[in-house]
Amino acid sequence: MPQITYVLPDGREETVDVPVGQSVMDGSVRNNLPGIVAECGGGCSCATCHVFVDDAAVGLFDEPMTEEADLVEFLEGACDRSRLSCQLIVSEACAGVRVVVPATNG
Ligand code: FES
Repeated sequence: MPQITYVLPDGREETVDVPVGQSVMDGSVRNNLPGIVAECGGGCSCATCHVFVDDAAVGLFDEPMTEEADLVEFLEGACDRSRLSCQLIVSEACAGVRVVVPATNG
């Protein structure tokens, strides 16, 4: 099962198993990690699951849909590595991916 590392808002790093087919958001919520609020439960409508994806990992996930891109555009601190973690579906290729969770999610 792929392991994903979350760099938490307080600087700690947590590495957890995330089953293939689940999202980076699911991995955080199911392990009670702080920082990803996920108010809408993964519906791509709240933007409280914002993360920064490492450059090396950007291509491992599908391109953002219009809904996601529109939400991210208005997020505080957004950059070209910003994604909504509920839209990042984990595959075997994602083993070792690292995401940074900003302190602005909620
Ligand atoms: S959980 Fe609401 S947009 Fe991702």
